[in-house]
Amino acid sequence: MAHAVPDPNPDYRLQPENTRGLDHIPGDYGLPYLGHAITLMNDTHGWVQQRHERYGLVSKVRLAGQTGLLVLGPDIYQQIYLDRDRNFSAEMGYKRQLGAYYHGGLLLRDFDEHRVQRRIFQTAFKTEAMKGYIGSMNPVLGEHMDAWQQQRDFHFFPAIKSTLLEVGSRIFIGIGDPDKMDLLTEAFLKVNEGLLGLIRKDIPGLRWHTGMKGKRELRNFFFGLVPQRRTGQGTDMLTYMCQETTEDGSHFSDEDIVQHAGFLLFAAHDTTTSALTHMILHTARHPEWQERLRAESQALGKPVLDYDDIDRMEGLELVFREALRLHPSVQIMTRRTIRECEIGGYRVPANTMLFLSPTFSHTMPEYWSNPQQFDPERFLPPREEHKNHSFGYMPFGGGAHKCIGMHFANMQAKCFMHQFLLKYRYRVADGYDPRLLTVPLPKPADDLPLALQRIA
Ligand code: HEM
Repeated sequence: MAHAVPDPNPDYRLQPENTRGLDHIPGDYGLPYLGHAITLMNDTHGWVQQRHERYGLVSKVRLAGQTGLLVLGPDIYQQIYLDRDRNFSAEMGYKRQLGAYYHGGLLLRDFDEHRVQRRIFQTAFKTEAMKGYIGSMNPVLGEHMDAWQQQRDFHFFPAIKSTLLEVGSRIFIGIGDPDKMDLLTEAFLKVNEGLLGLIRKDIPGLRWHTGMKGKRELRNFFFGLVPQRRTGQGTDMLTYMCQETTEDGSHFSDEDIVQHAGFLLFAAHDTTTSALTHMILHTARHPEWQERLRAESQALGKPVLDYDDIDRMEGLELVFREALRLHPSVQIMTRRTIRECEIGGYRVPANTMLFLSPTFSHTMPEYWSNPQQFDPERFLPPREEHKNHSFGYMPFGGGAHKCIGMHFANMQAKCFMHQFLLKYRYRVADGYDPRLLTVPLPKPADDLPLALQRIA
């Protein structure tokens, strides 16, 4: 018999966050207001592990003024991601963190509205579009990395960050003019700065103020582009979004497009930057893997990857997956309950915040052998450890909100690595073991200094 899906209470967006009725759930709230935010920022995974040891899979927490539950493990994530009873809101989960800047972004919409809006990306991620992106991306990646050999004190993280910003401006927004690209990048970076602001006041000198200024600039920038993109022949994501139609055949509104475009840049950029940084970190520390990947790329006999090569790069696929297992770009995902429900054996009241940790699932000894070890072959048959639980490996989330740019990110990472491996051999200092940050995104604290040796 079909599962009857209850309608969510339409007022759930108007309800305040619940902070009561959690006494029966183990845990503690840490410092006043800040709660555990500082411990989490210093060592996210260590903090999650500690809480699991003390309190189990569900525990109450407070993080920078938000009270809720840390919920752990693939069984609970299966319930939350599949959400058969429409109990969990992504919009309300991310509203406080992202809402002021990215209201209306895809992750900040729920259920039927989300399904209708997700269609805006339909053509933008089809094979034909992806083939176009790879053609525009390869030369930009190549030009940037060619310039790196001149740099003294080369640090990989800032270099790949600015490279991917240019790729993003061209492919997502269709901007090639350097002045316009600078405007876009500056506005985008201001918004990211604002997201880190703890004091939410629009007062000059505060990060929040910078962020709000960036938001206005970003919106004006996109609103200025939409009319031309609606009729243009471009093959950038913004053009596809402007020309996409809803199920009833009408176009998405300017406001919808602008909201999605801003969020898309945000969702795509830091995540892929972080993934590539960890691929390089591990292959610099494991030269045998670097050589294996280089041999694979050399055997292909092409300076750049074509679309049809992407699925053939087995070694790159394994390293991409392993880097994201150990360092998922989104370290804490959030949801809010819509109505009272049961999670991990506890009754949880409506409007309660939930914090999810993919790294915990990715390192559970029940599912992964030597979980802390870099071992990309764990994804190969017969081991296939990612299949030990259908929600055990979730760097791209799952269910209705599963990352829409997953294949794009995979393609971009492989295109970059292929060219980089052919052009350079790279090393880190002997015994290199950097402090790893997780906030605002996972990366080595020292930005990953590399010694580059040009080989082709
Ligand atoms: C390695 C790179 C990436 C990682 C690890 C990543 C991770 C994620 C995760 C975990 C989510 C779901 C969050 C949740 O359910 O709470 C998500 C959603 C999303 N991602 Fe990605 N992402 C990456 C790259 C990209 C790229 C390149 C794009 C666009 C081109 C993108 C666009 C989006 C969008 C639009 C959503 C919201 C989807 C929805 O709500 O339906 N991401 N991503």
